[in-house]
Amino acid sequence: MAVKRIVIFASGRGSNFSALTDAIQRNEIQGAEVVGLLCNKKEAFVLKEASKRNVPQFLIESKAFKKDGHFDRAAYEKEILKTLEKLKPDYICLAGYMLLLGKEIIQKFPNRILNIHPSLLPKYKGLHAQRQALEAKEKETGCTVHIVTEALDDGPVIAQSKIPIFAQDCEESLSQRLVPTEHQTYIAALKKLLS
Ligand code: GRF
Repeated sequence: MAVKRIVIFASGRGSNFSALTDAIQRNEIQGAEVVGLLCNKKEAFVLKEASKRNVPQFLIESKAFKKDGHFDRAAYEKEILKTLEKLKPDYICLAGYMLLLGKEIIQKFPNRILNIHPSLLPKYKGLHAQRQALEAKEKETGCTVHIVTEALDDGPVIAQSKIPIFAQDCEESLSQRLVPTEHQTYIAALKKLLS
């Protein structure tokens, strides 16, 4: 079976990028190769993580497409699509990619784009998912890996994991405690999809 080409999109720290790439490179996830990191911020730590792992990086700065407070999403996404045409991914994994994906990209890769979201979807979509869970006085939260559709943080769930919320938890502690669970869940979801 042909090795599946994976492109990861990220904007920040990149711990999910690193966890997925490491799992693929040590063959824990079989039959896959990370053929590129696509990043929209030149100061993102994930670029260093990609260099360490010899993953080709494609920096398309979203900032360059902002003028007078207007973001030219169509022009930005055209650049992304050009890069994707070269990379020919079988799957795209969003890992802390802080922009919404446009319709054209989603329609070009139907059922082939994954995202990780730090809540037990369908609960707490959008930003500050942990804060939302705390404010709702939940006793547990978690993370969800799902297929990306045109609606925000929606689409079929591939894997989901729970962690408890403790009385002393704040947004920061909860986010930190969730990180290793996110990594395991993303690895499990990709394995499931490829098997
Ligand atoms: C994670 O919490 C993920 O759930 C969310 O963005 C964060 C990215 O973290 N979508 P990292 O950059 O992978 O460390």
